[in-house]
Amino acid sequence: MSETDIVDPIALVKEGYDKIALDYLAWAEESNTADNTTNSPRLKYLEKLYELAPAQNTTRLLELGCATGLPWTQKMLEKGYQITAVDLSERQIQLARENLKRWISANPAENSVDLVSADMMKLAYSNYTFDAVVAFFSIIHVPRDMQLVLLENIYNWLKPGGYFICNLATMDVPVIYDPNWIGAPMYWSSWSCSKIREHLSSVGFVFVDDEVIVENEHGAEIEFWWFVVQKPITKQE
Ligand SMILES: C[S@@+](CC[C@H](N)C(=O)[O-])C[C@H]1O[C@@H](n2cnc3c(N)ncnc32)[C@H](O)[C@@H]1O
Repeated sequence: MSETDIVDPIALVKEGYDKIALDYLAWAEESNTADNTTNSPRLKYLEKLYELAPAQNTTRLLELGCATGLPWTQKMLEKGYQITAVDLSERQIQLARENLKRWISANPAENSVDLVSADMMKLAYSNYTFDAVVAFFSIIHVPRDMQLVLLENIYNWLKPGGYFICNLATMDVPVIYDPNWIGAPMYWSSWSCSKIREHLSSVGFVFVDDEVIVENEHGAEIEFWWFVVQKPITKQE
C-alpha cells in the first residue's frame, strides 16, 4: 500500500498498534535508554506536570495514547493521579489492563486508572472535567485537520487553570507513511510548530514552556516539539 491509498488513517493506526503492541514497548524502551538510564524527554515533561499540577486527592488527568501503560501511566499513578487513560488499540488497552491491574479497582478517591479503548477524536467529555491532559507521541497519528479540532476539545475538557502537556512533530507534512514501522504499516501527520502555536493561542491557551528536542530513534535523528500550555483561570478578552 502507498500513502495515496490510505482511506482510513485511524483504522490503519489501530491495526498497526494492535499488531505491534509489545514490539513498540521494546522498541521505545531501547530508544529511550542510554547507559541504562532513561533519557526520554517524557521524564522531563512529567516532572513539569508534577510541579504544575501536583496530584492531590482528586486531581483528574487524561492521558491520550497510553499504549501498554508502561512505564509512563504507571509513573503518573505512582504519583497519585486519578487517570483516564485512552488508547485506540484494543490490544494495547488489554496489555495495560494486565500491567496496571493494581490501580484499576483502586479507591477512586486515591490514585486510580480508568482504561478506555477509543479513538481520541470520538471522546465526549464534559467541559471542565480534567486538571491536566497529557499526550506523548500520540496526536501525531491523527490526521492534521482533526488535530486542530482535538486541541479545541482538549481546551474545553480542561478546568480553568488546567495544563496540556504534549509533543508533536515539527514539519509541515500532511501524510507521513511507513509501510513497515516496527513490523506494521504506520501513519503520521503534522503541521509546522508555528501553525500549531497560532492555533493553540487562538483557542485560548497560554504558553508556559516549549522547545524542540532532537531524539535519536534507533540511529535516526528525529525532532519533536514539546510544549506545556495552560487554560487561563479567567477568560482572556
Ligand atoms: C507511539 S505510541 C506512544 C505511547 C506512549 N504515549 C509513549 O509515549 O510511549 C502512540 C499510541 O497512541 C495511540 N493512538 C494513536 N492514534 C490514536 C487515536 N486516534 N486515539 C487514541 N489513541 C491513539 C496508539 O494506539 C499508540 O498506543
